[in-house]
Amino acid sequence: MHPRLKILVIHGPNLNLLGLREPEVYGSVTQDAIDQTLQRIADEENLQLKILQSNSEGDLVDAIQAARGRFDGILINPAAYTHTSIALRDAVGAVGLPVVEVHLSNIYKREEFRHHSYIAPVAVGQVSGFGAYSYVLGLYGLVQEIDRTASCVTTSQAKRRKKK
Ligand code: DQA
Repeated sequence: MHPRLKILVIHGPNLNLLGLREPEVYGSVTQDAIDQTLQRIADEENLQLKILQSNSEGDLVDAIQAARGRFDGILINPAAYTHTSIALRDAVGAVGLPVVEVHLSNIYKREEFRHHSYIAPVAVGQVSGFGAYSYVLGLYGLVQEIDRTASCVTTSQAKRRKKK
């Protein structure tokens, strides 16, 4: 039984610059605003969130590794490392937790080098192209996946709903 799911939210490189960075691609939303939205949903859904951002590939690998046994799932925007990092992919593959990959922009509508994700084959699924709402869809998808795979699915869902 898991009365309160623990979710690790990871923002990859340059996402700390959201709001300033290429607004024609990423919109004017800031990382802070995304985090506040996710926290509001977490409060409603009885989830515990830890949110981190790093520009460093090694720090992201360390955070994913450290999530084993401490979190029930990971929501990640790997940003540019999506397209380059076998290390991040191996960490996701090794951690043994459900991972959902999100992107603000539709990576398949952009430059060809963004069409390939090293993370997608080891993720539960990917949400791409809905702006900040990609994170919201990704969070709900991740929670649904955790509930679906948990042996105590009915109990955990019922418990969270009761607490709302
Ligand atoms: C991104 C897409 C990536 O290609 C890019 O490198 C990013 C942001 C997105 O959220 O749309 O930094 O992950």
